[in-house]
Amino acid sequence: MPTASATAAEPLADVPAQRRPRHVAIIMDGNGRWAQRRHLPRIEGHRRGVASVRRTVEEAARLHLDQLTLYCLSSENWKRPQRELDFLMHLLEQYMIEERSTIMRQNVTVRVIGRREGIPTATLAEMDKTVELSAANTGTRLCLAINYGGRGELVDGVRRIAEEARRGTLDPAAIDEQTISDRLYTAGMPDPDLLVRTAGEMRISNFLLWQISYAELWVTEKCWPEFEIADFHQAIRDFASRDRKFGGINTGG
Ligand code: IPE
Ligand code: IPE
Ligand code: MG
Repeated sequence: MPTASATAAEPLADVPAQRRPRHVAIIMDGNGRWAQRRHLPRIEGHRRGVASVRRTVEEAARLHLDQLTLYCLSSENWKRPQRELDFLMHLLEQYMIEERSTIMRQNVTVRVIGRREGIPTATLAEMDKTVELSAANTGTRLCLAINYGGRGELVDGVRRIAEEARRGTLDPAAIDEQTISDRLYTAGMPDPDLLVRTAGEMRISNFLLWQISYAELWVTEKCWPEFEIADFHQAIRDFASRDRKFGGINTGG
């Protein structure tokens, strides 16, 4: 048991490394509601949401979390007003520029998943720059899902598989789960162990459909701009106490 002072200094000291998630994925929801409740424009919620991204990434790196995946923009979010979308693109671009030195200092690798279509060229350029610069880092892998949709990802993966089969480089009879995993945007990443959603909705909203088959779900009523380090710790602590059975039976461990 940790001492009281050790607990205060390191709040997760009592959660052993093997009980912690390797990969945490977060549906960062509720920016608009956070703002509306304060009679502020929705974009103010997005601006405040960036601060939550910063502290969450910083804590993930500090905890040596293997991977953190953040749902930044879904393929369905294009239905929103152009002004809001323009602001989201601006925030994304600013984040890529402003966080670059911090990301390097934190030894974080950035990867982006999703379709590039629809993202302004200048935003793509800043994204690519951060991805390239951080590629050789060896710490926490930060994966940003931007213009991402789980069904679209599966469509793209199936197209690749069909093309390989047509060219004769892939035998349809040899297709297994790994064949599919390897052709998704997330190829090479571990599946999320823990899926966090803020703002209380009990839905997946087209996020990582294939990859979350056995993820533990953790939902908080708090909106994303209100998400604190303590909430992140609570999610990890709750995860550590779950009994993951993967279809088997309780081993009593
Ligand atoms: C999440 O917050 C951010 C994005 C989806 C880009 P929302 O903008 O969805 O906030 P609510 O759900 O309307 O409150
Ligand atoms: C999911 O949130 C997408 C992101 C967090 C980027 P939404 O706000 O788009 O989800 P719905 O519309 O409530 O399902
Ligand atoms: Mg929402």
